[in-house]
Amino acid sequence: MPNPAYEVDQLISPKAIAARVETLAREITTHFSGTDKLIVVGLLRGSFIFIADLVRELDLPVEVDFLEASSYGDATTSSREVRILKDLRGEIAGRDVLVVEDIVDTGFTLSHVLHLLKIREPARIKVCALLDKPSRREVNITADWIGFEIPDEFVVGYGIDYAQRNRNLPFIGKVSFV
Ligand code: IMP
Ligand code: MG
Repeated sequence: MPNPAYEVDQLISPKAIAARVETLAREITTHFSGTDKLIVVGLLRGSFIFIADLVRELDLPVEVDFLEASSYGDATTSSREVRILKDLRGEIAGRDVLVVEDIVDTGFTLSHVLHLLKIREPARIKVCALLDKPSRREVNITADWIGFEIPDEFVVGYGIDYAQRNRNLPFIGKVSFV
């Protein structure tokens, strides 16, 4: 079934995103300063642009790996059932791990992924999420670093999709169905 018509209105500008990414990277660099074993784990696919910008601002030796967990399909509400579609390539035992997520919404995805990764006994594991929708939370979980707290709106852009579209928008925009 084709998606209904919708409009996208800018919520967060490219400039505001860049400034926030710089600040987050500074804080993360300070937190992990001295490490020589940091693996930045991007949750595909929504975090791909954020992670690309974030790692370039980190003043640390980093490795990058990716994990894909399914959540929404093509709908705009969480399925609650989280599946791992693509696992990490590397081992994380004894390593420092920074999980990079696009949005923490109900929290099911992040809590499932953290549970899975903690079993592998990393030295430290922290989470940086670009966006947080605290009003939607169903699982008691928070990211260690959050780019922006947003209201209960469906958003796209800067890597984030609606039915796989709009990931290439340079800003974060709010979807409204018309
Ligand atoms: P959660 O498991 O409900 O926390 O869902 C997290 C995942 O749902 C995020 O990683 C996103 O991929 C997706 N998601 C949540 N809110 C939005 C949104 O507003 N736009 C697009 N994807 C979203
Ligand atoms: Mg996601």
